[in-house]
Amino acid sequence: MPRPLFVSFQGGGAGQWHVDRIGAVRGDGLAPVDRLRVAESTGVPPVGVWTLRGVTSNERYVERRERSALSAVQQPLGRDSARCAALIPISKSDEWWDLTQDERRAIFEDQAHHIAIGLDYLPAIARRLHHSRDLGEPFDFLTWFEFAPEASAQFDDLLGRLRATEEWAYVDREVEVRLSR
Ligand code: HEM
Repeated sequence: MPRPLFVSFQGGGAGQWHVDRIGAVRGDGLAPVDRLRVAESTGVPPVGVWTLRGVTSNERYVERRERSALSAVQQPLGRDSARCAALIPISKSDEWWDLTQDERRAIFEDQAHHIAIGLDYLPAIARRLHHSRDLGEPFDFLTWFEFAPEASAQFDDLLGRLRATEEWAYVDREVEVRLSR
């Protein structure tokens, strides 16, 4: 596992990514902005309209055979072909956080098949999960995805399948920020 990486996502008038649309999927949305800056460092001054911070971490749920399956196909961020991206900040309910680790794993994979579903969309979609809950941030997770424009419909399909799972019954806030460069 690489060391934790602190990442700031800054919505405003500047940044590598053009904001195509922002939609509130569940709960409050985010203020509209034109561009998104992604900064992989600590201590980034909070410029712009909003800043969301997260940190990469060790895996909580992945089992060895799943790690092997993911490692065999997953692609890095920053591919030249990946002209589209999505930032999807998510929070889960108190009910979720009151569960034990084994109860959460049972919902996440045995019932919802999050990893099995996700694997259907690799290598087209590259991803990185950031944790924010322990930083006192407004969201629990900042999920980040990169893909080629041709994979946009596949990505929408993936979102539809995941949002229909038992896991998503515990999502109480979700915002979808779609981006291009
Ligand atoms: C591209 C295909 C995807 C794959 C292969 C994938 C895979 C994974 C894996 C392996 C984990 C568990 C990490 C751990 O063990 O801690 C995870 C967690 C997570 N994923 Fe995905 N995922 C995909 C797509 C998505 C999408 C589209 C969303 C959001 C709409 C999403 C939201 C999350 C969230 C919020 C978590 C954290 C869950 C928690 O800790 O409660 N994933 N994903």
